[in-house]
Amino acid sequence: MSNSQAADHSFKILLTGATGYVGGQLLERLVRSGFRVRCLTRNPSKLEPFFAGFPEYRSQIHVVRGDVMQPESLQPALQGIETAYYLVHSMATAENFEELDRQAARNFVATAEGCGVGRIIYLGGLGEDTDPNLSPHLRSRHEVGQILRESGVLTIEFRASAVLGQGSLSFELIRSLTERLPIMICPRWLSTPTQPIAIRDLVEYLFEAQALKFEGSQIFEIGGSDVVTYGGLIREFARQRGLKRWLISVPILTPYLSGLWLGLVTPATAEVGRHLIEGLRNPTTVRDARADQFFAVKPMGVRQALQEALLEDDTAQDVAQ
Ligand SMILES: NC(=O)c1ccc[n+]([C@@H]2O[C@H](COP(=O)([O-])OP(=O)(O)OC[C@H]3O[C@@H](n4cnc5c(N)ncnc54)[C@H](OP(=O)(O)O)[C@@H]3O)[C@@H](O)[C@H]2O)c1
Repeated sequence: MSNSQAADHSFKILLTGATGYVGGQLLERLVRSGFRVRCLTRNPSKLEPFFAGFPEYRSQIHVVRGDVMQPESLQPALQGIETAYYLVHSMATAENFEELDRQAARNFVATAEGCGVGRIIYLGGLGEDTDPNLSPHLRSRHEVGQILRESGVLTIEFRASAVLGQGSLSFELIRSLTERLPIMICPRWLSTPTQPIAIRDLVEYLFEAQALKFEGSQIFEIGGSDVVTYGGLIREFARQRGLKRWLISVPILTPYLSGLWLGLVTPATAEVGRHLIEGLRNPTTVRDARADQFFAVKPMGVRQALQEALLEDDTAQDVAQ
């Protein structure tokens, strides 16, 4: 691994968020396909587990220490880059994540424009732009997409709902909620429709996007082949885990119930969980299926996506034992 701040021009792809869930999976896909990838992280040591797992790809990866909140750190990362993946969010850090994410996106596009970057590929969230009740999290994801698309750099914005895969924040949230209580008194969002996507399919969309021919910045809504409710998702998770769960829906989420639900979120994801739970009230389904015409991905349904996620889970537990 090189932590050198000097730009290496043989690297044409920049991956931000490589230490995160989605970025880590995409990094593996890119290097397996022979790409050389420059990764930006605030803490290069967070990529060590990746190098330990895949030592054979070490020479294809160049790590640059950088922070999207510090514009001066972005120049070495973006210099010479043709395609930049933007897989960053600030939800874990603070209450004012919307302002941080806005500033981060502005810093990133300003430097990307200056460096002559050819395209930005961003993953945000589904949800209706016109919905006045859109959660702050989803509103912020859309706003970041808009900042990137309105820049001088061609941008592909993907919008997705919950990503199903072991380690994904939204999958871990569903898991925490399902595994802890046999009887759940649930708020109204149990009947909110959503269209979760398997991590394997999501990574394929992101991967194909670096070679996609298109004109003008684009939004692609993507999801699995099933529309389900969050209640349905919890029931299917419980069924595959062999758990009996009773879900009792109540119309109003009292502060007491709200606190109870948040208490079920694991401490590690508490801050992010709080923001994600707020978004469960918003329908997150694909309304514009244009992605079908541009990408070869044939996304799987919820049952298979959960099967794959739980299989990963069992494998990880076997390794840990
Ligand atoms: N997981 C899901 O279910 C899901 C669903 C729909 C959309 N998405 C979108 O997918 C993207 C990635 O999500 P994820 O779940 O993979 O997130 P994650 O696992 O929480 O990772 C977040 C990443 O953001 C990076 N980051 C945060 N602040 C940064 C900063 N100031 N400077 C540089 N990097 C920073 C972190 O890198 P370092 O800490 O190494 O700096 C980390 O790699 C986000 O845009 C999210 O909205 C995710």
